[in-house]
Amino acid sequence: MKGNTTIAPKNSQSSRFALAHPAIRIAPSLLAADFSRLKEELAVVESAGVEVLHLDVMDGHFVPNISFGAPVIASLREHSKMFFDAHLMIAEPKRYAEAFVQAGCDHITFHIDVTSAPVAVVDHIRSLDVSVGVCLNPTTPISSIDAILNRVDLVLVMSVWPGFGGQKFMPEVLPKVAELHKRLDEHQRLQIDGGIDVRSIEEAAAAGADTFVAGTAVFRTPDPTASLTTLHRLATTGAGRAARP
Ligand code: DX5
Ligand code: ZN
Repeated sequence: MKGNTTIAPKNSQSSRFALAHPAIRIAPSLLAADFSRLKEELAVVESAGVEVLHLDVMDGHFVPNISFGAPVIASLREHSKMFFDAHLMIAEPKRYAEAFVQAGCDHITFHIDVTSAPVAVVDHIRSLDVSVGVCLNPTTPISSIDAILNRVDLVLVMSVWPGFGGQKFMPEVLPKVAELHKRLDEHQRLQIDGGIDVRSIEEAAAAGADTFVAGTAVFRTPDPTASLTTLHRLATTGAGRAARP
């Protein structure tokens, strides 16, 4: 596909993480963190070995909720070397992508349902020198991303309706994950987001997901470090059952 197989973080200082490396990763979602202590919450997951921090940006328009924007991300950038993975649940990703890259995001994922010109959105984000992902809502079919499937670095499958953390995992999206697992090449990541916890993560991995967003199941547990370890172990077990493309 894209030819760029070693996408190193542009903004983060770490060179340990390359989006394209095949591996299981848990990406904690900052949405479930204590917003009054964001710097400390970041440190907890980073010292537990987390490489990817998932940043849920909501505009109150594409989704019925407002979370945080570029200024909050910019204020966190200097406190972390993690790869900042921005999930833009916003109606105009092309308009705002640059602000998020300037704030320190290493990766931008947009929703296919917000645009009728996805190639232009992908090209624009790529021109900002970050990696690009596209997101499918629970009922959005794979065919909606046919035109860009081989142009993106990551496909994100929503396993809840976007807008809120703490929702119940929707197992009905797993066939879509399995189909994408067959169609993506080894340099493309397959991320799943929503309701990922100790009950759902193994099945999601068995379907072929390799990057697991987890908010509640990390930040809202008594011991986030232990939760990350457990989630990683269960995902690795599930991945062992995943059909190889
Ligand atoms: C939903 C967000 C998710 C969500 C994950 O709109 O994209 O990242 O907050 O949170 P949990 O893990 O609590 O479902
Ligand atoms: Zn998300």
